[in-house]
Amino acid sequence: MVAVLVIHGPNLNLLGQREPGIYGSASLSDINARLARMAARNGVDLECFQSNAEHELVERIQAAAEDGTDWILINPAAFTHTSVAVRDALAAVELPFVEIHLSNPHRREPFRHRSYFSDLAEGVVAGLGEDSYLLALQAVINRTNASG
Ligand code: DQA
Repeated sequence: MVAVLVIHGPNLNLLGQREPGIYGSASLSDINARLARMAARNGVDLECFQSNAEHELVERIQAAAEDGTDWILINPAAFTHTSVAVRDALAAVELPFVEIHLSNPHRREPFRHRSYFSDLAEGVVAGLGEDSYLLALQAVINRTNASG
């Protein structure tokens, strides 16, 4: 069974209330529930983790190297544009990951155009709201099925 860890970065706990014109009306628990349903249908072992603290994200990523995680799906949120520490944690654990964004950062302010993650990621899914997460999970399922 493939084990997928979904990591949500800072302020994503406020989804649903936070700038809904940009991030949509779904709450984080709505998104996690949709992912959990897709995971259950496809025999995926799914865990979702959210933190507003950079060190907690680093520690959860480090733990993923030891706990059987096969893939990470991560929306680093604002840390996308600032965090060498979270990037280095992902590089250190050498687990494949997909970078996810609800909005399309390239249509937004220039400071959102740089990502510390995209050049390490297997793929990037952005701009499709909560579907960004579901499409990333579908890609992991397809790759797992293809590799037997
Ligand atoms: C985000 C985009 C980031 O620029 C922003 O800081 C976020 C959310 C997104 O999902 O669209 O918090 O990662």
